[in-house]
Amino acid sequence: MIIHHKSSEKMDEVDNEFVHLIITSPPYPMIQKWDELELFCHGREDVVIGKEDFWIQHDRLLRIWAECKRVLVPGGLLCLNIGDATRTIDGEFCCYPNYAYVTIQLFKMGFTPLVPIIWRKISNRPNAFLGSGMLPPNGYIAQDCEYIGIYRNGGKRVFTPHDPQRYASEFTKEQRDVWFQQVWNIPGAAGAKKTSAFPEEIPYRLVQMFSCIDEVVLDPFSGTGTTKTVCEILEREFIGYEVEENNP
Ligand SMILES: C[S@@+](CC[C@H](N)C(=O)[O-])C[C@H]1O[C@@H](n2cnc3c(N)ncnc32)[C@H](O)[C@@H]1O
Repeated sequence: MIIHHKSSEKMDEVDNEFVHLIITSPPYPMIQKWDELELFCHGREDVVIGKEDFWIQHDRLLRIWAECKRVLVPGGLLCLNIGDATRTIDGEFCCYPNYAYVTIQLFKMGFTPLVPIIWRKISNRPNAFLGSGMLPPNGYIAQDCEYIGIYRNGGKRVFTPHDPQRYASEFTKEQRDVWFQQVWNIPGAAGAKKTSAFPEEIPYRLVQMFSCIDEVVLDPFSGTGTTKTVCEILEREFIGYEVEENNP
């Protein structure tokens, strides 16, 4: 279990085809809470975020996706939690389509997109309505879902028949029936507004669905280390990258 406190734009510490599974959640492009980090990383402290930053921020992430492709074993999976960003810039409200755009970029790069998971964050509060009362046509749909995109590095992974490590990692039929449904109803992590952590249940499922015991799991945006904690419990090796020194 190791976390490198540096940018994952260059993961020189990790050999080619060394990682079996990647589970991660980047700073979502165009989300206001990441403006400071974005401007700081580019020495642009005095500049205001504009509509064109959608492309700029995705292009920066692209370098990390290329590194992910390099370190993944053939057939290894990249599970990417990302949400679209709703924001008003220059008086124009827009839903910046992060999931759609990152999926096209990964597809172009040679990843195979698989069916995504729709993560519906269960909430007690009634959906906030954005718009003009009950009058058509200018209301906006309340956003209460994020995506977990699943992308494969080439074809399926190949195992020898009855591979003992694979069989020791088997999950139950009950787990399969829930985990492989497209919609996951899971509450957000406590305090997630501040830390951006995802709930443990997300990597807890993904690790068991897509890796075997003792295999290597990478999180290039490891944050508070949720994926690491789960890997310790589930007997997987973990490698993380995180720029924020205060994170574990
Ligand atoms: C959405 S949070 C990840 C939260 C994590 N899944 C958790 O459960 O705590 C994104 C993290 O990426 C970090 N980060 C941003 N740019 C980075 C980069 N280039 N390399 C490594 N970490 C980065 C941020 O500091 C932040 O902690």
